[in-house]
Amino acid sequence: MTPIYWGTYAPELETALKEIDFSGKTIRIITTHEGTGLGNVVNDIKRVCKGANVLDNALPIKGSLAKESKSLIESWI
Ligand SMILES: Cc1cc2nc3c(=O)[nH]c(=O)nc-3n(C[C@H](O)[C@H](O)[C@H](O)COP(=O)(O)O)c2cc1C
Repeated sequence: MTPIYWGTYAPELETALKEIDFSGKTIRIITTHEGTGLGNVVNDIKRVCKGANVLDNALPIKGSLAKESKSLIESWI
């Protein structure tokens, strides 16, 4: 789960994502944004999360609608 900042994941996550060994793990990305949608987040997560199986069907949620997105998230899961 990350907000979209400048078209990608929040830079605060970068160090942790680089240091974690994601071998054998699957990552499903949920984002919040305010208009641009996913941007480059899927490809950037694939690049930074070494060994992870990053699924392409990331979920973009309009941040201002996040509180009303429970059913959207449930159907995506
Ligand atoms: C530094 C910064 C960069 C942002 N860049 C984008 C962007 O490229 N595209 C977009 O749709 N929203 C952008 N936003 C809006 C955030 O995605 C939105 O505020 C966030 O998803 C809501 O989560 P938050 O309450 O944790 O910030 C940006 C917000 C900030 C603070």
